[in-house]
Amino acid sequence: MKAENIHVHMGRKEILHGVSFRATPGEVTAIIGPNGSGKSTLLKALSGEIQASGSITLNGHDIATLKPWELAAMRGVLPQQSTVAFPFTVLEIVRLGLASGLAAANDSLPAHALAHVDLAGFENRSYQNLSGGEQQRVQLARVLTQVWEAREQDQPRWLLLDEPVASLDIAHQFTVLNIARDFANQGGGVVVVMHDLNLTAMFADSVHVMSEGHIWASGTVSDVLNNNTMKQVYGIDLPISTLPGTEIPFVLPQAMVQAPNS
Ligand SMILES: Nc1ncnc2c1ncn2[C@@H]1O[C@H](COP(=O)(O)OP(=O)(O)OP(=O)(O)O)[C@@H](O)[C@H]1O
Ligand SMILES: [Mg+2]
Repeated sequence: MKAENIHVHMGRKEILHGVSFRATPGEVTAIIGPNGSGKSTLLKALSGEIQASGSITLNGHDIATLKPWELAAMRGVLPQQSTVAFPFTVLEIVRLGLASGLAAANDSLPAHALAHVDLAGFENRSYQNLSGGEQQRVQLARVLTQVWEAREQDQPRWLLLDEPVASLDIAHQFTVLNIARDFANQGGGVVVVMHDLNLTAMFADSVHVMSEGHIWASGTVSDVLNNNTMKQVYGIDLPISTLPGTEIPFVLPQAMVQAPNS
């Protein structure tokens, strides 16, 4: 997946100011950066959901030339927030992925996908009555149902995930990130927006750091997660350490938290 010099406007405001981006199949590519830096906007542009000037290619195809069903067969998108206006059951939501994605409909996929996100048996529950984290995992099951096989006829499929673990407990964060890792290991491409820098350091093969509508830095986790990034992009003086015996960076924000009144 490649984006060259893309600009995105919302009304008269320019949100992305010439972003170039690359993600490789077989890898987990993370996008990090502060609130409002343009991560979701970039993901929406990469998925073809919003218009962008410049060029975006997916498996060598200019996404502007792809029909909606061709795009749907190549990539699944988990939005940061999903609103469901009608009283759908969980199964009805997950089956939406089946309808939009695969040519060969496979009726057992929704149940497999639900089991994958640890929601086996939730099929007939009302979506609106689920907890926030459960709803987010149902949405992921919908996306997985759409792009179940990571490759199709030598072409990678893509998972575009906007903060997939933001509302999940620690165990389910690993469930979901391991699903993303498996998808990449099977030859698919994964682009994931993250806020948790420690999880990003553990999972991402490469990282793009966004700031104010630009890509501020790109590289491996060790290349981009450093004290300078914390200061320049997040505006905080927070030292980055490495996990004992490894090169994996980690952040312990202890110094940022005020002590309780004694
Ligand atoms: N439809 C829109 N109309 C006007 N401004 C918008 C629109 N969508 C996004 N923006 C603005 O563009 C900027 C980038 O938004 P975006 O949602 O991409 O940020 P983000 O990096 O995903 O932030 P967060 O971490 O909070 O999810 C923000 O300043 C936001 O207010
Ligand atoms: Mg966002």
